[in-house]
Amino acid sequence: MEKRAALYTGKAKSVYSTDDPDLLVLVFRDDTSAFDGKKRQQLERKGRVNNRFNAFVMEKLAAAGVPTHFERLLDAHESLVKRLQMLPLECVVRNYAAGSLCRRYGVEEGLRLSPPTFEFFLKSDPLGDPMVNEYHIRSLGWAEPWQVERMKELSFRVNDILAPLFQAAGMLLVDYKLEFGLFNGELLLGDEISPDGCRVWDERTREKLDKDRFRQDLGAVVESYEQIGSRLGVAFD
Ligand code: TMP
Ligand code: ASP
Repeated sequence: MEKRAALYTGKAKSVYSTDDPDLLVLVFRDDTSAFDGKKRQQLERKGRVNNRFNAFVMEKLAAAGVPTHFERLLDAHESLVKRLQMLPLECVVRNYAAGSLCRRYGVEEGLRLSPPTFEFFLKSDPLGDPMVNEYHIRSLGWAEPWQVERMKELSFRVNDILAPLFQAAGMLLVDYKLEFGLFNGELLLGDEISPDGCRVWDERTREKLDKDRFRQDLGAVVESYEQIGSRLGVAFD
């Protein structure tokens, strides 16, 4: 497998084509961004930590039957994935109230959501990733009805697999964001699952261990990402 042209540079990852038209290389960079790119910083080692973390989680999900784009780790910063046609949506599952849900509905951070809740957002930095509903998605053609159903089904299946893993390691999976895309007509989980796109708290102390440490200037960001991974059993170099 040969890495070829840079196709796309996102806020935290870059994407390269390969000699196989069905495969891409994801490069996890140290760049970290929040608030739709308004806050940005380089965090040393973050790229390699998220690359490992994502590989661990994607492999767990695949083993449990969730179809994902992940193929294999290539090196410290890079992973090989299937080339998906991405849907312009972000799927958020929430087990506890935090972030925009608290701001929107005036609920207290940490409230347990029973059952867990689900939201779609339109992936658009200029618009600030607005929340959208299934009618918007259908009327504006962002995804077809079967794709909407499948995204919800897979997002909750991911929760059924990951929430107990975090719980067993003394952590709460508060919320997380997933992105999906199409490969040969099938809907697969794409992008990454890492502490950049999740909220994770220590169960006992409720200490924040995820990207809220960066958003809220709490310090020790990458160290906390490593702590989450180590507690889950991720082998970092
Ligand atoms: P929110 O509380 O800001 O809506 O975010 C919910 C979760 O989804 C949180 O873990 C962060 C993640 N997320 C992203 O990673 N990127 C995004 O663009 C959005 C909207 C959420
Ligand atoms: N990752 C997104 C951004 O960089 C949203 C966030 O995490 O706040 O803007």
